[in-house]
Amino acid sequence: MTTALRYQTGFGNEFATEALPGALPVGRNSPQRAPYGLYAEQISGTAFTAPRHANRRSWFYRIRPAAVHGEFVPHRHEHWHNRFDEAAPSPNQLRWSPRPIPKAPTDFVDGMYTMAGNGGAAVQSGVGIYVYTANRSMQGRFLYSADGEFLIVPQQGALRIATECGLIEIEPQQVALIPRGIRFRVELLDGEARGYVCENFGAPMRIPDLGPIGSNGLANPRDFEYPVAWYEDQLGEYELIAKFQGALWRAPIGHSPLDVVAWHGNHAPCRYDLRRFNTIGSISYDHPDPSIFTVLTSPSDTPGTANLDFVIFPPRWLVGTDTFRPPWFHRNVASEFMGLVHGVYDAKAEGFAPGGASLHNCMSGHGPDAETFAKASAADTTKPDHIRDTMAFMFESRAVIRPTRQALDADERQRNYQDCWAGLVRHFDPDRR
Ligand SMILES: [Fe+2]
Repeated sequence: MTTALRYQTGFGNEFATEALPGALPVGRNSPQRAPYGLYAEQISGTAFTAPRHANRRSWFYRIRPAAVHGEFVPHRHEHWHNRFDEAAPSPNQLRWSPRPIPKAPTDFVDGMYTMAGNGGAAVQSGVGIYVYTANRSMQGRFLYSADGEFLIVPQQGALRIATECGLIEIEPQQVALIPRGIRFRVELLDGEARGYVCENFGAPMRIPDLGPIGSNGLANPRDFEYPVAWYEDQLGEYELIAKFQGALWRAPIGHSPLDVVAWHGNHAPCRYDLRRFNTIGSISYDHPDPSIFTVLTSPSDTPGTANLDFVIFPPRWLVGTDTFRPPWFHRNVASEFMGLVHGVYDAKAEGFAPGGASLHNCMSGHGPDAETFAKASAADTTKPDHIRDTMAFMFESRAVIRPTRQALDADERQRNYQDCWAGLVRHFDPDRR
């Protein structure tokens, strides 16, 4: 098991890996007879004819093809859905405290809870934003989404994600990206777990172009770690959960579908450690737009306008002179769902706890609260400020992010959130410049 916890690096590279020597055919993808009696199977994550730089597909050499399972029937799940039209979205700023860890036995699938989203699998754009809380590993069940890729952002508790391509372990401040269709099982390494998931219905996420930044910086390609081939050859009365067109289905399966002995390609899961992000900012005055903190982006059909940006606010030095250093007051055309993985977010004095969330939709004004404004306005900007203890993130979408009915009605919703700006009083004095 431990030898399978190795990684190969480079974002979106064409990897080749085998758990048994010679399991990977050489020179062709589907030889007449694959080694070891394996079946050859392709999984494509983009259109066959997608441009080469954007094309995603892998070849699996597996014990049984993915087609081998029983009939899917609808699987009822009260809290995990893609009904983003249940409640009229409002221009109100929204914030939530963390969802409590459940007492009843709850695995990653059971513990998924839809906070908000837009678009959907049918239109191949938009995002589903979920939080998960769990207290046990998935046992005898496997999950895949035909709807989109999963960006898993743990906030509490390390996870081992056993996938068709191999094993990935992540802890808070690391993330995992599970491509559309890849089957996996989530195991809890610390007994309890909470975190965020963004399901991306649009084009697969990629690392952004760097423009004048040059050839290095932000998330460096070699820090994306992909598993090496690993498989389990197990029979049992298992369950395969499929997320398909916003709903869940389940089928009986008599073997573990994590039976890929060798694979090659670039449609594969990976992990990334947010602490490795090369954070770039101003060394004179002001600070750049938060797009400078983009880790991954899902482009839309409109150049420069992302279906989804995954943006982080990591530890960093603030050095701008005569500058209001926290994130400024703003209204954006894009819509912003934020979460906090660790520490304190520098634009809010209180109320935004690790595991909590906020939602600021298109053109809804937001920014630092009154306490943060007062502190930053009085700060000595001749001295640098080192923000150490923080890891906030944002799922940003070009379309309005619509909260679900359950999220609006949740006990965790802070109904007095707007009050955090109430203390921003009038300082204007036309006689004093
Ligand atoms: Fe914002």
